[in-house]
Amino acid sequence: MTTTDPSSRTTVSALAAPEGGGFPNPGLPPHEHRAADVDPRAERRAERLVAAMFVLSILGTVLFVASYFLFSPTGTNLLAEPDTLHAVRWNTLFTGLGLAISVFFIGAAAVHWAKTLMPDHEMVEERHELGSDAEGQRQAVQILSDGIQESGITRRPLIVTAMVGAFAVLPIAVLAPLSTLGPLPGNKLHHTFWKAGLRLTRDHDGTPIKASEVAMNSIFHIMPEGLTNETENYLEERAKAAAVIVRIDPSIGQDEESLANGYNGILAFSKICTHVGCPAALYEQQTHHMLCPCHQSTFDVTDGAKVIFGPAHRPLPQLPIEVDAEGYLVAKGDFPEPIGPSFWDIHKEK
Ligand code: FES
Repeated sequence: MTTTDPSSRTTVSALAAPEGGGFPNPGLPPHEHRAADVDPRAERRAERLVAAMFVLSILGTVLFVASYFLFSPTGTNLLAEPDTLHAVRWNTLFTGLGLAISVFFIGAAAVHWAKTLMPDHEMVEERHELGSDAEGQRQAVQILSDGIQESGITRRPLIVTAMVGAFAVLPIAVLAPLSTLGPLPGNKLHHTFWKAGLRLTRDHDGTPIKASEVAMNSIFHIMPEGLTNETENYLEERAKAAAVIVRIDPSIGQDEESLANGYNGILAFSKICTHVGCPAALYEQQTHHMLCPCHQSTFDVTDGAKVIFGPAHRPLPQLPIEVDAEGYLVAKGDFPEPIGPSFWDIHKEK
């Protein structure tokens, strides 16, 4: 093995041409020492920079935790009314920013530390047979312990202290959200805003929908009439009530009960995927399949939205509907079972 001496500018020597001809191994080019290897001031600068990055990571974690409580989507929010989309946006922005800063600067500090301060020795080692004898294993252990020594951990208490601080406060970013878990949802998931007599309205403008306006194979994104910004727990109610209606030819329907809960082939289903809750509303008109974009669960709306592919385990809950005297589509009641992801006592009566 031939190496450079880190304290000098000698180069790795070229190896002789192999026996029998061929090109001689040109060896490695002259080794360029980094500034921190030859200039103590540059070394201290790099050390301070690495420590500063760990400190920035700590500040990122502090920003995350502070934002979590000061820009809550449903509680205290310094920039917006709680329970509004603005409150959700500010919360997402600041907590995301805090976590990004926290994780990014830990990574950046590690990379800069490795590139500027870790040992920079060039080494050449001839290939040898695989497998180590006892002596080789002893040397491996020796190399590892030398590496720990050479990494300078024991000589750089500033970096070590800052790094320990950064890693120590990072878990707080996980604990902060946990501290606000609860109370238990109780029967909240068993009920939505839908109830008998509420008209089905278009999600984007709130106008009611007549059965005669629903063309064959079309899809509408719907919300219950009366669900507005003024509604208590508006965002939560919207999330639970989100649904779609599709119109199929009743003659292709395979599930009598599902057809009976619709009106003339117009069927209403929850839009919340029963896997982990993404909006499942990609409708294939030709196949009458409803797709969830997150993990590709596929529901057959001609067969009561049963799962025909993907990780979801149960059909999309169907909203029973009828028409009122003026021809508008109205709900006959709430969803018969909880919407969204399944949980252990989902069919327990509440
Ligand atoms: S959330 Fe729909 S498939 Fe996973």
